[in-house]
This record gives sequence, structure tokens and C-alpha cells, in this order.
Amino acid sequence: MENKDFKMVAKTMYGLEDVLANEIEAIGGKNIEKLNRAVSFEGDMNMLYKANYLLRTAITILKPIYSFEANSDRELYDNIYKYKWEKLLNADGVLSIEPSVYSSIFTHSLYASQKTKDAICDRFRRMFNQRPNVSKEDPDLILNLHINENQVTVSLNSSGESLHKRNYRLRAEMAPINEVLAAGLIQLSGWQRDCNFFDPMCGSGTMVMEAAMYAYNIPAQYYRYDFAFKKWGDFSMPEFKRVRDEANKQIKEFDYEIWGSDISGAAIKTATENITNAKLHKDIELFRADIQEQNPPEGKTLIIMNPPYGQRIETDDLFNLYDLIGRVFKNKYSGNTAWVISSDLDAFKHIGLRPSQKITVYNSNLECRFCKYEIYEGSKKAKKQQE
Ligand SMILES: C[S@@+](CC[C@H](N)C(=O)[O-])C[C@H]1O[C@@H](n2cnc3c(N)ncnc32)[C@H](O)[C@@H]1O
Repeated sequence: MENKDFKMVAKTMYGLEDVLANEIEAIGGKNIEKLNRAVSFEGDMNMLYKANYLLRTAITILKPIYSFEANSDRELYDNIYKYKWEKLLNADGVLSIEPSVYSSIFTHSLYASQKTKDAICDRFRRMFNQRPNVSKEDPDLILNLHINENQVTVSLNSSGESLHKRNYRLRAEMAPINEVLAAGLIQLSGWQRDCNFFDPMCGSGTMVMEAAMYAYNIPAQYYRYDFAFKKWGDFSMPEFKRVRDEANKQIKEFDYEIWGSDISGAAIKTATENITNAKLHKDIELFRADIQEQNPPEGKTLIIMNPPYGQRIETDDLFNLYDLIGRVFKNKYSGNTAWVISSDLDAFKHIGLRPSQKITVYNSNLECRFCKYEIYEGSKKAKKQQE
């Protein structure tokens, strides 16, 4: 196994770069640099295993292996052809290529990926009279092809399927939040795991699951077995097992409550199945209730919620719902802090409280605000939001 340090790039979502950089620092990554929707860092194979197993806000961990300049299709093909791919893949293996291309020279990412595939397969055919299969189904090697104008970087995708697929969610209700985003929001809120957590619109339970995993220090991929690096020639199962065992030993007790509630019986049923599947049903309490009926747990509580927004709900109903959220904040949550993520800036105004912080994040392709409300005693009389 490679004990030397190398560069890695952890991809994430817009707005989560700072959180991810902190997570990487906490696991011992070196030379950390924040990029756009990504963070680069250095470490050895042990670090690559840790990054995959532990980082809550990473989507993929890439290992760049080959960079060059290409000003034409020919130069792309020739440079790719030169690389010793046979060190990484057998001639009867399965290859997958993920292109991300931002270039005026290579205007079609699929075409660039096709050229790359042709060059690799031609090299194998010449050397072994046999070429790898190219398929997204169960590949042995996943190459990430990144082209920025004429700068080409080929990386190994060490994760495989996106790391938001934690493998605890059996089913989802409508509009589930992405697990990486949920984990990111929880950390952006600055929660020190020193009070209760409550999501009064919990849907399939993603936010409460991520809160519980964070609170109990359960590794992000505790429930997942598949990682692309397990198919690499230099994969060391004993080393990965060491990383896993060490991280699992850090799981600890949490002395506060984690609650979720939702008006929909179907959502609570799904959430119950999901938390039971994750064996967290004793650690998370779920209630079927309208937000206006459900009190938060006793004592200091952080509230994070992802109310409906977007296309599926009539505007009037949406505004009424946000009016209701504002009333509930003032009547039931005073003394606590509540955060709301939504893409609907007009609906936010109906909460009727001034947010003390607004952070821009994206929920898939929807630009959202994540707004913080500090609900003081007496917020009933709080000034109406001016904006
Ligand atoms: C966008 S979804 C939340 C998705 C959730 N974060 C997840 O990962 O599955 C919004 C949720 O708000 C719930 N909801 C809508 N109105 C409600 C109300 N008045 N009281 C409680 N829950 C409500 C819906 O049933 C829905 O599950």
C-alpha cells in the first residue's frame, strides 16, 4: 500500500466548502485548500480511507493521477494513450469515465469522454489484443475526466457512488433533502451537540438521522460497504478495517433529545423504518403531528427544518404555512434557535422575524437560503421583518 502522501480533492456542494475544510482538518488532512464546491488536501492511503469513511459533507474523494495540456482532440487522445493504464486496470476489466468539461476547445463532454475511452482501449488492444469493457455497471476503475479550457486532469474516483448514499435510507417521502446537505446544514448551524435537536417537518427523517449520527459520532459511512477504492490493486483490507474500527470506537453517548415530527403519517412511517434500519430508533423520537400541535423537547433545543417549497404547493398555501411557522416560532420556541432552509424568498418574509444570519446553499439545482432565527422571550412582539 502507498504510504507516501498524495493530493486528493473532496467534492462537495456550494456553500459547504468551509465545513468540509474543517472536517478534513479534524481527520488530519494536510495542505488544505478551499476550491469552488471542492476542497483539496494531502495525505496517504490511510487518509483516503478515512476521508471516504468519515467526511459527512464530501460527495466524492478524487485522487488526481495525471495532468496535461490539450489544445485539440488529437492532443487529448495522444496524452491519454501515453499513460500506463495497465498498471490500474486489467484488459478484461470494466472502466467507467465521468466527464466534467468546461472548455471552448472541448464543447461536448461526452465527446471528450469518448476520445479518452478510445485512447485507453486502443492502448490495451495494441498491448494485449483485448480491451476493457466500458460501463457504469459495477466498474473496476472509475476515471474522473476534468477539463478546464486546455488543462486536463484525470483522477481516480475513490468513492464510487456519491457519498450522500449512506445506505441507511430504505425509502424516501416526497422531496427528501440530500444527506450531504443535511449534514452540512447541521454543521453550518454551529451546533456543538450540547442541547436537544428537533426537526418539526422531518419527512423521511434525513435531518434527524444526520443529527443523530453527528451527535453520537457515528461515522458518515457506518452503514455503507461499497467504495470504489476496494477494487484498486493496492487496496489493503486490513488497513481499511483499522480505519473503520478506530472510527467506530469513537462512537459515544449523547445526553440530549433528538426529535422529529411531521404532519404526514406516511412520512413518519417511512422515517420510522429508516431510523429502525439504522438501529437509531431508541435514540430518535418521532411524532405524527402538525407543527402547531407539537411542542419541542423540554430544555434548550436547536431546531432545523426544511419546509415545503418550490413547485408542489400553491403560493397562497405556502405563504399561510410560513405565516404558521412564524407563529409557532414565537409561541412555542422562545428561548431557542431555529434554522429554516427554503428556496422561496417571498415565503421567508411570512415568517415575520428578522433572521440573524443568512447562508446561500443549493438543494440540487435550487438556490436556497438557510436562515437563522434567534427567538427571544417576547418575540411575539418581534418587529415585522422589513425586507
Ligand atoms: C420538504 S419536506 C421535508 C423533507 C425532509 N427533510 C426529508 O429529508 O425527507 C417537507 C415536510 O413538511 C411536512 N409538513 C408540511 N406541512 C406541515 C405542518 N403543518 N406540520 C408538520 N409538517 C408539515 C410535509 O409532510 C413534508 O414531509
